[in-house]
Amino acid sequence: MTLHTAPPRTASDGFVLVHRTLIDTGQRLALALRLSADDRDLPGLVEIWNFYRAGLAEHHEGETQVIFPLVTQRDSAFAELEASMAGEHAELDGLLAVADRAIVATASDPTPASRASAADAVGALVDALDGHLRREEDLVIPRVVVAISADEMSAIERGFLRRIGSRRIALTVAALDETAHREHLPMPPLPWAARLALPMWRKRYRRVLAGAGITDIGGAS
Ligand SMILES: [Fe+2]
Ligand SMILES: [Fe+2]
Repeated sequence: MTLHTAPPRTASDGFVLVHRTLIDTGQRLALALRLSADDRDLPGLVEIWNFYRAGLAEHHEGETQVIFPLVTQRDSAFAELEASMAGEHAELDGLLAVADRAIVATASDPTPASRASAADAVGALVDALDGHLRREEDLVIPRVVVAISADEMSAIERGFLRRIGSRRIALTVAALDETAHREHLPMPPLPWAARLALPMWRKRYRRVLAGAGITDIGGAS
């Protein structure tokens, strides 16, 4: 059993935990597409990709539509950064659509070339995402933390989770939990039902990763 020694949670912790999970999962997906020549892992990779794609799109939506406008409401000088982040989200959503088309293409016609193109497209997305998340953590999150309290941010995050449906809640919480343990980051407070279900969700997530052949790539161990 891993001892969880995370420090107390702050309003920025949820962002950092989600960002680390997005980068790590994206890198593992790109690597699995590049390394394996066995197309039996493709249905599993498509399942993880769909989970990842929805999570990233909703992360952008939550920031662009809810969190950043709330910061600008309370700190009008934030408007310029809000606009520049919305522009970066739109660019990333474009790369997400390119990667999605490449994954769909390799799932329907799995050749080494289509698989390499999908790996390149996911790699390009994750590289661009990494730069965006670094700028967000350096420039944006310190302003968010001043404008929105940790309790208020937890309530906003719970609202996001409620919208995504039970299967994706299970995979999302298990993915965040894995990152939290690996990188010693604090987890958001979970309702009691989620705490009870977490061991089962962890197993389900690891089964999905194993089905995609990415259990041994990157952070999962
Ligand atoms: Fe973010
Ligand atoms: Fe963002």
